[in-house]
Amino acid sequence: ALERTLSIIKPDAVEKNHAGAIIARLEAEGFTVKALKRVHLSRKEAEGFYEEHRGRGFFDELVAFMSRSPIIVMALEREDAVARYREVIGATDPAKAAEGTIRKLYGASVGENAAHGSDKTSTAAREISYFFAGYEVSPTASSA
Ligand code: CMP
Repeated sequence: ALERTLSIIKPDAVEKNHAGAIIARLEAEGFTVKALKRVHLSRKEAEGFYEEHRGRGFFDELVAFMSRSPIIVMALEREDAVARYREVIGATDPAKAAEGTIRKLYGASVGENAAHGSDKTSTAAREISYFFAGYEVSPTASSA
């Protein structure tokens, strides 16, 4: 089905000027950018986005990292967007990610792993609405 997923180019990749290469790769993989912006999250905003991970050992490190410098957030659309995007970014740990995946190419560690993607379609809807107002995202079910 035609789906959307939330993509984040994380601080490490933005700092290294890899954002353009990552966006070009995603377009080449058939994703349409439906919404895009560059934002510098506060700690509170990063905590809110990753609320489900609160209490995990890496939570404070994750929040500090995601709020240390700007990120680029995108709503992406294509057939089976959630699963296809996860394939293109690769495993969470860049050391375990397949050759050619975005995390393998641009990630440094399990924390600083260049990109985030929604884990399922219900999560994608919530994550997209965390960053984008309705008027910022073009209407669903169209690759235009
Ligand atoms: P992401 O897809 O953004 O969702 C949660 C993030 O937590 C994940 O990517 C990882 O970057 C991060 N994460 C998972 N495990 C660890 C860890 N052991 N140490 C630091 N960060 C982690």
